[in-house]
Order: sequence, then structure tokens, then C-alpha cells
Amino acid sequence: MTLPNELTFGGVRALHGRVRLPGDKSISHRALLFAALATGRSSLTNVATGDDVAATRAALAALGVPIRTGTHAVTVNGTGPAGWREPDDVLDCANSGTTMRVLTGALAGRPFLSVLTGDASLRQRPMRRVSEPLRTMGAHVDGRDDGSYAPLVVRGAALHGVRHELAVASAQVKSALMLAGLQADGITEIVSPAMSRDHSERMLGALGVPVEVDDATVRVRAGAPQPFELDVPGDPSSAAFFVVAALITPGSDLTIESLSLNPTRLGFVDVLRRMGADIDVEFGDERCGEPVGDLHVRSGPLTATTIEGDEIPNVQDEIPALAVAAAFADGVTEVRDAAELAVKETNRIGALHQELSELGLAVERRADGLVIRGGRPRAALVKSHGDHRMAMALAVAANAIDGESTVRGWRAVSSSYPNFADDFVRLTHTS
Ligand code: S3P
Repeated sequence: MTLPNELTFGGVRALHGRVRLPGDKSISHRALLFAALATGRSSLTNVATGDDVAATRAALAALGVPIRTGTHAVTVNGTGPAGWREPDDVLDCANSGTTMRVLTGALAGRPFLSVLTGDASLRQRPMRRVSEPLRTMGAHVDGRDDGSYAPLVVRGAALHGVRHELAVASAQVKSALMLAGLQADGITEIVSPAMSRDHSERMLGALGVPVEVDDATVRVRAGAPQPFELDVPGDPSSAAFFVVAALITPGSDLTIESLSLNPTRLGFVDVLRRMGADIDVEFGDERCGEPVGDLHVRSGPLTATTIEGDEIPNVQDEIPALAVAAAFADGVTEVRDAAELAVKETNRIGALHQELSELGLAVERRADGLVIRGGRPRAALVKSHGDHRMAMALAVAANAIDGESTVRGWRAVSSSYPNFADDFVRLTHTS
């Protein structure tokens, strides 16, 4: 799909109706990886549509895993980890940190050489957080600056379980070590400084792999998931953009259906409720250990809040959307303890500071966060900084501002949600 590089919004348009979003990105990556580690046929529907998950799918195909993408479902005829083969070329993880980090964990136990690279953004993101702990388990993992940056070179080996104490609460690192742990002798224990998203724990548990969870500590031993069927629930991080759009655009009333309601992903709902938002959460079924249901949101006034501490790991992908909510709220919102924002797809602290300032707001940047004085943002030309979540957050702001605003660098949305503009425009044109 060719996306325009600029998208222009013509003024305030309320959102109405119901929307079902593409599958959750984190769950989609894991579903593909787990199906590739299982022995037998798995079938996945509503797999995330963006380039990030396509990178995981292509990497697994390059490793010899039989993956077929049909019109409705992705079918994986898993042959277990033993069926993975040395790829005959570099694995391109594109813009996807999850692909690079989690796949590196899986490859640490495979007895062959893999080289993983990505785009300019991914090659600047920190990788020592996976290379170092995987080395302690017996794998050979190297990269630029002694394993700090991609390209990464992995020569898998016989692994042994280790207790890891993570310096940052990262679900990607935790999941990488869990996938190495499934191929290791003994127990692999991962202690996180705070809870991070727990899809790997829930899904592997549901697929027959014994995973022990004790607050923010996870233990696994050698094992493999069973093949499975999964209709991937909608992505709550994508939903956050629609939720904020509905809140700040007067007259909106929106239902988002069939989403993952995993509590480690709903921190943004708690923050927005604290700001006075009217959001209902309705739980429905459970799929692969993931609670699924609907969100219902109506527009209304917001007041400022502080977002900090252990709340941060569970809202970090939603900070661009929450920063836009803060821009329209009454009072001064502070984001603290969020230094990780600087090493996402772009430096989101710098990017939000710059672009919210363009919209006429008083914003201060700190090493670990932002201070945003809410007000009346004004129309402007703003930039995505090559970051999909910046692009969508700025679109949400533009839709709630009088006059014409343009988001430049729109193509970045292809990482997670190439059809965002189509879905968004449909909801703003429903009477
Ligand atoms: C993800 C974990 C998060 C998140 C990323 C996806 C995952 O990063 O920001 O978009 O799928 O595990 P951390 O590894 O920093 O938690």
C-alpha cells in the first residue's frame, strides 16, 4: 500500500460509531513466534497488518518455518525449533524492536549463525539489554559496540538457565529471555524492576508451557508450545488514539470492539479516567489467556495529571496519545520516570516537546519526561519524526483543532497501522 507522505486535517470533526481494530502488534509477533516453535499446524486470524509484524513473519519464513498467508488466516506448519534452519541472508527487522529483541532470544538456542539488522532507527536502539543476558546463558551474541547495537550476530549454542535481574522493565527483553529459557537446561528466572506487558506469560501458559509468575518475576524451563488457533484481539495501543480523539473532540461517542483488555495494556484508561474521561470497559471472552472486550468512550473535559513510577512501563506506547490529551486538558500534566521514551522508534521526549510546541503549547522537556501546560492548541504543520505513534497522535490533535493542520512523515504509520487514516476518516464522517 502506498501511503501519502502528508496528511491534512481540515478542522474539528467528532467521531461516531463502532470500530474493530487490526490485531494487537505484541500478540501478533508472539503468536507467529510461538506457532513457529510448536510442532503442528497453527492458524491465526486478524494478525496485525503493519510492517513490524510482517518483518517477524518474513524472518521466520527465512528461517525455514512454513508460513502461508491466506486471505483470512496466516497458517504456520510448525516443525518445532529443531526445524529452524540457518538463514542464507541477513534477517531484516525493519523498524521493529520486538522482532529484533525477541527473535534474538529464540535464535540464541539454535545451533547456527543469524545476522539481524533493521532500519536507521532500529540500528540506534539499545541491544545490549538482550545480548548481555543471552551471553550469560551460553549464546554467542555480538553487534556493534560489543553487542550494543544492530546489526546483531547470533551463533546459537546449548543454553543453561540463569537468574536475570533486568535493569529496565522491558517486555521485549523478558520475552527474549523466556524464549531462550524454553531451549535451556534448568530454570531461567527473570526478575523485572516493575511489571511490563505479560503477553508471553499468558499465551505460553495457555499453550501448555509451564510458566511461573510471581509478581514481576517469571520462571520457565525447557518446553515448547502446542499448536493453536487464535483470532488476535484488537490492539489497545491503536485504540488509545481513537479514545483520545473521541475525548478531545466535542460531540464524539465511540465504541471500539473486540480489543485485548490485558491489564498491562490498559494503563492509559486509568490515566485518562484520572483526567476525568468517561470510558466504559466491557469484558467479553478470553483468547489464549488474553481478556478481550470493548471500550466505549464519550467526549468531555479533561484535567491534568501526573504519570510516573511503576505506571510508566504499562503506558509507554500510549504517551504520545496521552500527551495530546494533556495538551487539551485543563492544568499542567507531568510525565516522570520515562527515560525509556528516548530510546523508542524516535526520541519521543524530544519529538513531543518539539511538535506540541509547534501547536502553540507551553512544554518543557526533562531527561525522563515532559511537562505539558494544557491550553488551546492551534493549527500547524507538524512532523512524525519517522515514528508511527507520533504520526497518529498528531493526527488526533489535528482533528480537534480549528483550521488546517498537516502531519508530515505520515508513511511512518505503516509500522503498526497502515489503514489508520481510512478508519479514522470513516468514524469522523458517520453522522
Ligand atoms: C513490546 C514491549 C514494549 C513496547 C513495544 C512492544 C512488546 O517495549 O514499547 O512497542 O511487544 O514486548 P519494552 O520492551 O520496552 O517493554
